[in-house]
Amino acid sequence: MKRTFVAAALLAAFSIGPVIAADDPIATRKAIMQNVGAATGAGAGMVKGETEFNAVTAALVLRTMNTAALGFGELFPEGSESGGKTTAAPSIWDDRAGFEMVLAKFQSDTAAGIAAKPADLDAFKAVFGAATANCAACHKDYRVKKE
Ligand code: HEC
Repeated sequence: MKRTFVAAALLAAFSIGPVIAADDPIATRKAIMQNVGAATGAGAGMVKGETEFNAVTAALVLRTMNTAALGFGELFPEGSESGGKTTAAPSIWDDRAGFEMVLAKFQSDTAAGIAAKPADLDAFKAVFGAATANCAACHKDYRVKKE
């Protein structure tokens, strides 16, 4: 009897943990954007000549951005407007269609970059420039500055 109770309590404790983590859209979208930031850093290093161009890295940079764009729109449910140190602007909820539009452009620009299979630095510069133009385009309208 007692043992069954302990086992059930343990099971509950273990199953609740991951559910809470997966159910935190603010932490998830921040982590996704941090990955995009890291990918952008790797791409910028090649563009600036700090690191040597590498076609596999170039593809991974673009794919990381594209993967981020694919699920990003789902991570702004009602109730996630504040808290968790979010810098998401209220305009995301007030102008969802506009937000979805800039997000769709980020998706298609990164998909086009992947499809172009940049094989040298000049080819990469063109698609990387197009992909990263979306960062500021979205942030200026849909992100607030917070220190
Ligand atoms: C479609 C809109 C959109 C695009 C495009 C976009 N971002 Fe963001 N980004 C956001 C939003 C919204 C946040 C705020 C998320 C939050 O705090 O809840 C954010 C946050 C961030 C953060 C901070 C993450 C944190 O830990 O708080 C970084 C870094 C970032 N973006 C980098 C980039 C880079 C680099 C690009 C371009 C390659 C980019 N973003 C493109 C919407 C976008």
